[in-house]
Amino acid sequence: MTTRKGIILAGGTGTRLHPITLGVSKQLLPIYDKPMIYYPVTVLMLAGIREIAIITTPEDQPQFRRLLGDGARWGLSFTFIVQPSPDGLAQAYLLAEDFLAGAPSAMVLGDNIFFGHGLPDALAAADARATGGTVFGYRVADPERYGVVDFAPDGTVRAIVEKPERPPSHFAVTGLYFLDASAPDRARAVRPSARGELEIADLLQSYLDEGALAVERLGRGYAWLDTGTHGSLLDAGNFVRTLQDRQGLQMGCPEEIAFQKGWITAESLRAEALRLQKNDYGRYLLRLLPA
Ligand code: TTP
Repeated sequence: MTTRKGIILAGGTGTRLHPITLGVSKQLLPIYDKPMIYYPVTVLMLAGIREIAIITTPEDQPQFRRLLGDGARWGLSFTFIVQPSPDGLAQAYLLAEDFLAGAPSAMVLGDNIFFGHGLPDALAAADARATGGTVFGYRVADPERYGVVDFAPDGTVRAIVEKPERPPSHFAVTGLYFLDASAPDRARAVRPSARGELEIADLLQSYLDEGALAVERLGRGYAWLDTGTHGSLLDAGNFVRTLQDRQGLQMGCPEEIAFQKGWITAESLRAEALRLQKNDYGRYLLRLLPA
């Protein structure tokens, strides 16, 4: 199988976070001690993915380049792609078609935060499916705000319904999609919805129609956090701070994962750590170095 490539969708308008996002991309805002986009980057890294396309608005791309560079310091390779206007999640597969060059993909939304014991195993299971797709369902209190899974009585998935007034279940589809190489072709067949977007739900439906979509449930031991409103942004930051302070371990730390996976050397890690040593993040990196 061709190596799976990653996509981070980090455009959008962030209207719910105005006035903050009038001047800066949502995905560059801090979640406690690091930029939001570090969290989706590390999810892809945990899935073993090293070639990643970052899709942003035209105005914000320079800032993402400044923050992330070419990815080499984390053992990664970043490709930057512009989304001229926020025309929907499924459009990402059209914009990234050349980058994917026939490879299967894992796409994660730039404002989604995943945390939980066993996440690397869940990602590996999704990666192992060579054909079709995998999405992750998560129980939420307010499913009407999301794409919601409609289960048939036998537990199979009938449909994914976007922001339904009467949700068929409490399971939202999270912003992490493992799709095979046919995703760009399928995205081309998706027509704009009533709100003018190429909907991911329609793209997923084309897999569902062929019985080719697996929905993995992430149980209650996981956290899937939303960062799209003022309150949820602060909550996510507090969540990260609470866990990190309690455990003394970092959440969403690209340097740590790159080093663990052998993608960067101890010397490179030391160089990164020294750049950041004035704060806890840098001191944490220093402690990862072999004595
Ligand atoms: P949303 O939260 O649906 O949209 P948004 O980020 O523009 O925020 P708001 O609803 O407050 O206006 O987007 C989910 C994620 O997907 C987010 O990380 C932005 C990204 N996105 C794009 O990059 N391009 C798009 O066309 C859309 C719709 C979203």
